[in-house]
Amino acid sequence: MTQIQTEDEVEQVYSPKVPPAPPGVARKVRIQHLLEMKQSGRPIAMVTAYDASMAALADEGGIDVILVGDSVGNVVHGFETTLPVTMDMMIMHVQAASRGAQRALIVADMPFMSYQASIETAITNAGRLIKEGGAAAVKVENCGERSLQAIKAIVDCGIPVMGHIGLTPQSVHALSGYRVQGRTEEQAAELLEYAARIEEAGAFAIVLELTSDAIAREITSRVSIPTIGIGAGVGCDGQVLVINDMLGLTENPPRFVKKYCDLRAGVLRAVRKYSRDVRERTFPGDEHTYE
Ligand code: KIV
Repeated sequence: MTQIQTEDEVEQVYSPKVPPAPPGVARKVRIQHLLEMKQSGRPIAMVTAYDASMAALADEGGIDVILVGDSVGNVVHGFETTLPVTMDMMIMHVQAASRGAQRALIVADMPFMSYQASIETAITNAGRLIKEGGAAAVKVENCGERSLQAIKAIVDCGIPVMGHIGLTPQSVHALSGYRVQGRTEEQAAELLEYAARIEEAGAFAIVLELTSDAIAREITSRVSIPTIGIGAGVGCDGQVLVINDMLGLTENPPRFVKKYCDLRAGVLRAVRKYSRDVRERTFPGDEHTYE
């Protein structure tokens, strides 16, 4: 009988489709690897993805964590906020992204009102994202006591939870718009307290969105779970961006976004050229035509 020696070999035996990981990086990303990455100072790379093809590309590109964010509401469905996103919409996108990714850890966002009303609803909905969607973990945005109770209850069921503090888009109306959080002493103290309580509730990581660099660094040094920043400076344990923003598909993205390519210009160029070719009958050519 073959002797299995290392975790990599175990993964290879039981998950033969998992593609090779970059040198020094786990073959299939687990919660434990993220904690080890914080401890060893190796930053965590996370992006959002909402469908199988983008998740497959993110995976092949070496991303550690794919977030099927409720930003799908803005990016894919064209809503102004994330508030209209439903559990059924999330399940469909989580299923698609899970089918595309082999190596990255899939985290599914719990949409607005899927965890606030009661502990039972929170557990049922988190369970659906894992059981029907195929995610490995869920993310819960902070809205005070209710989200802390939801995190604890979901973790108690054996489902890993990622917290989310700072700008929490599901609270856009309560926060009076999308603005940088933690700039006043009072806000900063509140963020520090929430971060500690989210860790205490059992979360394995926390997203810090649109906070000052100083408060993000302070939180990162105080909690023992990884912090993943978006518009929170370079001092976090990892970074996350909405994939459409970093690929340059979004018109006028926020200042914290770095455009890694200009897909918008590329797509526009291609579509314009295709329309012209169709109108001038230069497409399809002989090479695209069956005899
Ligand atoms: O929904 C989302 O994309 C998010 C990220 C911005 C962290 O929550």
